Amino acid sequence: MGSNAVITGWGMYAPERVMTNDELTRLVDTSDEWIISRTGIRERRIAADHETTTTLSVHAARDALAVAGVDASEVDLVIVGTCSPDYPLPATAVLVARDLGATRAAGFDLQAACSGFLFALATGSSFIRSGTYRNVLVIGVEVLSRFIDWTDRNTCVLFGDGAGAVLLSASAQPGGLLGADLFSDGSGCEAIIVPGGGSAEPATAETVAARKHYIRMLGREVYKYATRQLADSAANALRDAGLGVDDIDQFVFHQANLRIIESVQKQLGIPDARLFINIEKYGNTSAASVPMALVEAVAAGRIHRGDRILMVAFGAGYTAGAAVVEWTADPSRAFLAPGDQTRLGKPRAEAEAAVAAAG
Ligand code: ACO
Repeated sequence: MGSNAVITGWGMYAPERVMTNDELTRLVDTSDEWIISRTGIRERRIAADHETTTTLSVHAARDALAVAGVDASEVDLVIVGTCSPDYPLPATAVLVARDLGATRAAGFDLQAACSGFLFALATGSSFIRSGTYRNVLVIGVEVLSRFIDWTDRNTCVLFGDGAGAVLLSASAQPGGLLGADLFSDGSGCEAIIVPGGGSAEPATAETVAARKHYIRMLGREVYKYATRQLADSAANALRDAGLGVDDIDQFVFHQANLRIIESVQKQLGIPDARLFINIEKYGNTSAASVPMALVEAVAAGRIHRGDRILMVAFGAGYTAGAAVVEWTADPSRAFLAPGDQTRLGKPRAEAEAAVAAAG
């Protein structure tokens, strides 16, 4: 018999190094005013030289496990949603499991670009609901700074690095994933692409010289497609859950562009108080964007036990994913995380006292 797949742990990690819009004006012909007015982004985080997609993931995953009170040895499966893995092979998830000490976990990467976390969430939930696994670690992570052409103003102002993770656990209680919608449309292949380095155009001196190992994007086309698809995916997931917009307590959209989010907000009629936005701090962190926003929404006191959350993302492919989740965890457990981004910067002793006080 299957069980519900509920979120028992959550965590995030954003590299320390902050890159402001003003810094970008030294690299390309742009301005703080242009970037803020067109995208809502004020700054983004950039991984240090020694950091990788695996190390960012491990920080976020350690927080998620500590919040859940689950040891790494109890994790059955690690799914890493990313389009910026450490290596073409092996999979980043295998390295994350190794570094966490998740010795009996299976691990694989899931590539659905910015929709990767929501594809991974739906996949992980299925493994739990079928009774196959009890604890699945779902990570959305990117180190896109290594795939950005820092001479291309069309893309370099948009992206940032970061990681977010949730632990899904089997539960007999109601809650967890209530509905989902996954979508792919390969007609968008050319709209956001890293053309070089795969089987279509293997790496050569020419592909490197032609800068084909960096992200290329047709921003206008993506913008138009995204505003329509996000609303469609949200509606489909709501239908799957048997719920309407008014039943949702908090909306967490992929933080790609503030104007895209506001357009979808208007289409769906979402009040400001129920829409979480943090794009100004991190830019577009692709697969990490939804879980990082989710973790910050919890930290900001926006998410309570019994709340229903709608998360929606779109990305290269095109892909889009949406999930309605009923939140069942005690938000104050965030204080147990070792990382201060997840636990709101509270000192450990104060954090433990707060959890004890919450019972
Ligand atoms: N600074 C200054 N000017 C710029 C910059 C910049 N960084 N980038 C472009 N411009 C210029 C353009 O050259 C253009 O000039 P022109 O009129 O002389 O030709 C002008 O600004 C307007 O350009 P547009 O592309 O029309 O600007 P727009 O308002 O559409 O904003 C943007 C561009 C922000 C990229 C927008 O189209 C967008 O957000 N698109 C979606 C991007 C996205 O969400 N991608 C998700 C990727 S997901 C993944 O899976 C990786």
